[in-house]
Amino acid sequence: MKLVLDTANIDKIKDYLTYLPVAGVTTNPSILKKEGSIDFVEHMKEIRSLIGKERSLHIQVIQEDYQGMLDDAHKILNLIDKDVYIKIPVSKDGLAAIKTLKAEGVNITATAIYSTIQAILAKELGADYLAPYVNRMENLNTDPYEVIYQVAQDCLGSDTEILAASFKNVSQVLKASQAGANYVTVGTDVIDSFLANANIAKATHDFAADWQMNFAKDQI
Ligand code: G3P
Repeated sequence: MKLVLDTANIDKIKDYLTYLPVAGVTTNPSILKKEGSIDFVEHMKEIRSLIGKERSLHIQVIQEDYQGMLDDAHKILNLIDKDVYIKIPVSKDGLAAIKTLKAEGVNITATAIYSTIQAILAKELGADYLAPYVNRMENLNTDPYEVIYQVAQDCLGSDTEILAASFKNVSQVLKASQAGANYVTVGTDVIDSFLANANIAKATHDFAADWQMNFAKDQI
């Protein structure tokens, strides 16, 4: 399971880079809204400088129509860098935009995936990553793990990767991974719960206390 950060918060990204195996960063307009009145281009460039080119950066288009998505994609690529994965929602216009942008050689992350058929169509058009929305599917009484399993079977032998998204707890993250998602993009609320078990701190403290009670401080 490769971990991607579903946040645009600079302090959080800096912190996670110190102790997590970070494969990339994903954003969307709702995630960016949480950062307040930022300079979008400068903010994205700062994230890129933090994660480097060896990790993927995924930025979503804003407009909903075909031409608007193409315009947004070209602006993002020109203003930030050509290695960005352009996130395109899998609608009718989105599929058309994916088709055009892949013909131009653009990196694509197909997003807002709520069904197997959306994912398969985007994959057939050459999308590099497919982002099924796990928690949002569960809210709609769709089994996201069955969708991920079916998509993973369809992706066998292709270069398309599953980047599962929309998580509200660790259990969803692990189940998505077990169902076949090669990547998961996880928000700060769930990431911060990875190590939130108080027993970890207690065990660490107990070991340190036992050492200090039995050994001289200068032994190590
Ligand atoms: O990447 C965005 C996707 O994770 C949506 O998440 O929490 O808005 O359902 P959420």
